[in-house]
Amino acid sequence: MHVLSNILSVLLLLLLSSKEGQASQVVEKRQTTAKYCNPGTQICYLEYSWGPTIPVFRVAVPDSASTNTAFDTLLQIVSPVSLGWVGFAWGGGMTLNPLTVVWPNGNGATVSSRWATGRTLPTAYPSATYRTVSASRNATHWTVETVCTGCSKWSGGGLSTTGVNTFAWAVSKTAVSQPGSSGSSFSIHSNVGMFSESLANAKVPRAAFEAYVKGAK
Ligand code: HEM
Ligand SMILES: *[C@@H]1O[C@H](CO)[C@@H](O)[C@H](O)[C@H]1NC(C)=O
Repeated sequence: MHVLSNILSVLLLLLLSSKEGQASQVVEKRQTTAKYCNPGTQICYLEYSWGPTIPVFRVAVPDSASTNTAFDTLLQIVSPVSLGWVGFAWGGGMTLNPLTVVWPNGNGATVSSRWATGRTLPTAYPSATYRTVSASRNATHWTVETVCTGCSKWSGGGLSTTGVNTFAWAVSKTAVSQPGSSGSSFSIHSNVGMFSESLANAKVPRAAFEAYVKGAK
């Protein structure tokens, strides 16, 4: 009896510890960054993905860009249809950095420029402006690609083109109140995350970058 219960407790420990090990491995492995090149357009991006319930975020910048200066940034978001809005924070947190907030609007999307000084509904941020490269939707995903003028540098910070940057994201399962309006209100996120990467994988030859975003409105 004694031996049996010892064996049982060892087995139980093994079971618990292997489950724990698996769980933490899965959490760490979910978040990945890579270089992604669109085979159709030849534009390459720094790609961040987490798992099927979180959007894929892709960032590209012209290779002529230098740290803490004004340059355009390209952001592509491929979101599961289950999400009502998706936010991207260029400085890695909710407050005091440009926030790109996007949501589906029919077959297209609305891009909203926001800024937060506290952890409440972010307000309009006119220092960053956006032009939409493309937006679409199918049964499983909505996608938007937008070029931002004003997301590379802000009061108190900016992107580094040589070192590591921290970015953050937020998502909500709840639709915004007025999908057609960039001034719409929306409710708090159901999930947030951060990642740190250099822009090495995001650099696109300047001429190709400019040609790609040229027709965006
Ligand atoms: C009604 C709108 C929003 C409200 C009320 C809100 C509120 C909050 C609160 C209370 C926290 C701290 C607790 C927590 O982690 O959940 C937080 C964190 C965070 N929020 Fe928001 N948020 C809003 C919109 C946004 C948007 C549009 C973004 C865009 C990316 C964003 C990004 C983040 C991030 C990255 C964090 C974690 C890091 C940090 O605290 O800076 N939030 N938010
Ligand atoms: C729907 O769109 C997503 C994102 O662009 C794409 O990965 C997926 O293959 C599309 N699904 C179909 C059925 O076309």
